[in-house]
Amino acid sequence: MGHIEFLLNDQPVRVDHPPIQITLLDFIRSRGLTGAKEGCAEGECGACAVAIREADEKTGRSALRVVNSCLMFLPMAAGREIVTVEALAPDGELCEAQRAMASAGGSQCGYCTPGFVVSLFAEQHLPGREGPCDPMALAGNLCRCTGYRPIRDAALALGPAPASEFVDRLLQSAPELDALAIPGFSRPVTVDACLALLNGDPQAVLVSGATDMGVESNLRHRRWPHLVSVEAIDELRAFSDSPDRVLIGAGLPLNEIGRRWTDAPDVFREWLALFASPLIRNRATLGGNLATASPIGDAAPMLLALDASVHLAGKAGRRVVPLAAFFSGYRKTAMGPGELMTAVEIPKPLAQFVRFYKIAKRRLDDISTVAAAMALDLDSADRVRRARFAFGGVAATPLRVTEAEAAVVGQPWNDATVERVQRILDRVLQPMSDHRGSKAYRLEVSKSLVEKYHWELRA
Ligand SMILES: Cc1cc2nc3c(=O)[nH]c(=O)nc-3n(C[C@H](O)[C@H](O)[C@H](O)COP(=O)(O)OP(=O)(O)OC[C@H]3O[C@@H](n4cnc5c(N)ncnc54)[C@H](O)[C@@H]3O)c2cc1C
Ligand code: FES
Ligand code: FES
Repeated sequence: MGHIEFLLNDQPVRVDHPPIQITLLDFIRSRGLTGAKEGCAEGECGACAVAIREADEKTGRSALRVVNSCLMFLPMAAGREIVTVEALAPDGELCEAQRAMASAGGSQCGYCTPGFVVSLFAEQHLPGREGPCDPMALAGNLCRCTGYRPIRDAALALGPAPASEFVDRLLQSAPELDALAIPGFSRPVTVDACLALLNGDPQAVLVSGATDMGVESNLRHRRWPHLVSVEAIDELRAFSDSPDRVLIGAGLPLNEIGRRWTDAPDVFREWLALFASPLIRNRATLGGNLATASPIGDAAPMLLALDASVHLAGKAGRRVVPLAAFFSGYRKTAMGPGELMTAVEIPKPLAQFVRFYKIAKRRLDDISTVAAAMALDLDSADRVRRARFAFGGVAATPLRVTEAEAAVVGQPWNDATVERVQRILDRVLQPMSDHRGSKAYRLEVSKSLVEKYHWELRA
């Protein structure tokens, strides 16, 4: 068989022999649904936003999750229910989100408007939401001409979703993803089946949310002969929080982690809000972030400071690797060929004082120039019992500065100890200069973040 089927604005769609790396955006536009636009083709602008009806764990029903359709390969739509802006105004009757945008003056050239409307509509229909809509739900949508105040006003003007077929549909459970096997694209439903595919075809490459791979495909024209999607593997989407550890499926989208980890520490919530945009976080996963071994990936510093490990599965069996031993070189990891990451484990109890800092050119929706996460446990005499200093953007891999960690154990956490850490950073960190920041800048920022951490603990 070589076809996929899905629901597009409530209409069944069948595509025979789909091209694998055509984007969902290009496909829907080719069907005449041209509300979604291509602004950047790299997940930055949100002009291509569409909604997917997915399971909502909290209510056991479903919710609309907004995604960048420019970063979804068409076969990823198989078995799903996709909603585009065209469906929000059936028979030409504008929905409340559209009317609010129009009356607040939230649109000028209109290129970005369909994307904003989809995000606003999904936010208004969020299960259990109360009060006005949260303008931060629009943080993945960029507008180059209107200015954000009228758009924010439109969000604040919207209350609960009025009764509609959409509201009724969200009371039902979401479609479940089945196994799929078409030439060039497989979607297994178990880890064993995934390993069989990976080990049976040397050209098979894993894909999860495709927020990295979609950019590679669109901008660098990278092509993969056989993509193996992990999106339908339940084990990779599991989450558990027990007294001794938190176990997070490597394929669980970041926003879903935020929803399921109900008593997540502040550091996780701060980290999540600084990671890309709501649209990217609806697709991006920890597995994808760590597997790229990007020196500027944001997950690694936070997870290193929390002493996390990764669970790997391969032909030879399962193993658990401390994250501190996972990055083996520039964009290299300890994962062997034919292995996949199934979960990330964070041991408990978490350290007493943990902070994450992200230095980027923009506060939101930007890549780190330097990221740092620090964790300290102090004893009853305020001496350091355990310290973790983890950084991204300062070497070929994300790293823990173990020399500094060892040097402060048993010391009082004071100005002199901070200076000692800074002297070690001066010696150990080896940042590069690039368009985001010079070597000297990155080093100084890293040192000043230790000081900032110190002041925050004192406060
Ligand atoms: C606009 C934009 C903003 C971004 N902002 C940030 C940011 O603020 N911080 C940040 O750190 N990153 C950011 N990113 C990068 C990206 O979103 C993350 O790296 C994301 O976590 C990747 O996850 P994914 O599931 O989409 O990976 P994919 O693109 O699906 O895969 C990435 C790589 O991981 C491999 N892989 C995926 N899953 C597994 C698995 N389970 N086991 C083994 N290998 C696997 C794939 O083979 C591939 O090599 C941004 C990207 C975009 C487009
Ligand atoms: S086209 Fe800009 S995010 Fe998709
Ligand atoms: S109205 Fe022109 S880009 Fe937003």
